[in-house]
Amino acid sequence: MKVAVPTETFPLEQPVALTPSRVGVLRQKAGLEVEIQAGAGAGAGFSDAQYQQAGAAIVSDRAQLLGGADIVLQVRTLGANPVVGQADLPHFKSGALLIGFAEPLTERAATVALAQRGVTLLAMELLPRISRAQNMDALSSMASLAGYKAVLLAANHLAKVCPMMVTAAGTITPAKVLVIGAGVAGLQAIATARRLGAAVSAYDVRPAVKEQIQSLGAKFVELPLETAAAETQGGYAREQSGEQQRRQRELMARVVAESDIVITTAAVPGQKAPVLITGDMVRAMPPGAVIVDLAAGRGGNCELTEADQTVEVHGVTIIGATNLPAALAPQASLLYANNITNLLLHLFKDKQLVWNPDDPITRETLVTRDGKVVHAAVRTALGLTAND
Ligand code: NAI
Repeated sequence: MKVAVPTETFPLEQPVALTPSRVGVLRQKAGLEVEIQAGAGAGAGFSDAQYQQAGAAIVSDRAQLLGGADIVLQVRTLGANPVVGQADLPHFKSGALLIGFAEPLTERAATVALAQRGVTLLAMELLPRISRAQNMDALSSMASLAGYKAVLLAANHLAKVCPMMVTAAGTITPAKVLVIGAGVAGLQAIATARRLGAAVSAYDVRPAVKEQIQSLGAKFVELPLETAAAETQGGYAREQSGEQQRRQRELMARVVAESDIVITTAAVPGQKAPVLITGDMVRAMPPGAVIVDLAAGRGGNCELTEADQTVEVHGVTIIGATNLPAALAPQASLLYANNITNLLLHLFKDKQLVWNPDDPITRETLVTRDGKVVHAAVRTALGLTAND
């Protein structure tokens, strides 16, 4: 079987789905022939020669590469690359297995088109966060990198130092950093801000993360909010009501007003991001303060965020970067390639691709198969009927 890795075509997407170090693993453990589009690794610092040395063939023609592939590995496939990604659709072989980020819960047209093309789609963002799938969890890999980079970006824009400095000329107090949402990105942001010497506070609606926040040396912001039902069985946050969000904003206003840096990462899977910082809250922040809104791609946690823009409002810089891992392309590729390789190898037994619909990892990630959208939650989210 042939596995193909095309160049990423989403604007400014630098990472590549497979690194040279994973080529040999796929060849040896799954018996796969690996083909890479010429130049696919260049944005992440991997040359064609490195892929060739690892045993991959280099193919210049994208249509030929995709048309000959039984398996295609991408970072962002059609749904997550909704405009430019369209060009690939006619080239996928019917029956081919496609693995990548695909936004299946929101991108109806792309998901249905892939099903109709006969492609079997495994969506990386649907991997269950269970221990067995940890080494495949690309969302977590990318969120860790984003949490780290968000703090560095904020520190760079802040016209203050982060650590306390005791100098002969006087003492500088540490910058105050607030992290809202302490999942994967948030915990990495806390750890990074602590390493920079900032005084860090963090808040999450899930009380279970209090200990994790404290173990990283940050202060847990206690808000007298009803949190008993804040967590799902899967450990994710439950969507809050409008009233709960309003109350949270009210209680958080004081903490936000005292912060030099706010990193927001609050997310509920499959939902628009909750708005937790209003324009008035931004106005009350110290001049020169910085907000990095990691939820910018889902509408933003701050109502003044503009996706993919850095704006200054009321003297506060608001950074709405939606793809920070792309700025760390070599390591984003390394982690992603490990995640996707682990998922692919999970599907192989004795060098044969074996479908096991009872396996939770397969069941949860499998979106399209045999011409249909087969994932129940995706069907519901996209409003598909029995005729679709
Ligand atoms: P996660 O699900 O691990 O963490 C999100 C956290 O937000 C959870 O702990 C949840 O309890 C908390 N939360 C939900 N509602 C809240 C509220 N109202 N107040 C406070 N906390 C609340 O998600 P992960 O992987 O850490 O990702 C976080 C966000 O970062 C997501 O929106 C994701 O799409 C985004 N992201 C952004 C990147 C970028 O470059 N901008 C890259 C990677 C992820």
